[in-house]
Amino acid sequence: MYGEPQWAVVGDTYPVGCQFSDKIVYPEFFEANPDYSDERYNTKFGVYSENCGLDQVKMSWGHDEYLYHVMKDYLPKPALYIIRYHSFYAQHREDAYSHLMNEEDYENFEWVKKFNPYDLYSKVPIPPDAKSLRPYYEDLIAKYLPKELRF
Ligand SMILES: [Fe+2]
Repeated sequence: MYGEPQWAVVGDTYPVGCQFSDKIVYPEFFEANPDYSDERYNTKFGVYSENCGLDQVKMSWGHDEYLYHVMKDYLPKPALYIIRYHSFYAQHREDAYSHLMNEEDYENFEWVKKFNPYDLYSKVPIPPDAKSLRPYYEDLIAKYLPKELRF
């Protein structure tokens, strides 16, 4: 694992503060995470309550969480769900954290699932031409975001 502690390894994202699901990719490595044996965090609900809603749940760090915090004041909810939870495979593919989900989460996870075909293994072997694509993305940014972002 190149010397990183378990919690610094990204890929799937998952809730922290409650038991790690064995549906998260490479679950055997969670034994190396100090939270694994901490009684405050290693029960089904941990620090949370039943169906509290994912907005109450802290997620592991990764590009999902980073971009969510950058965009949270600017994009509509379905888009924010896609950004924040697209790597949360243990839920959107395996249903392993339904006990933390509320109605709003279920409704918006329909969008997360629609996005999924464009996530893992959807990339082409030839790198895209960043220069020719740039105007397209700059137009999108200009359409949906203000000139300066607050976060
Ligand atoms: Fe991603």
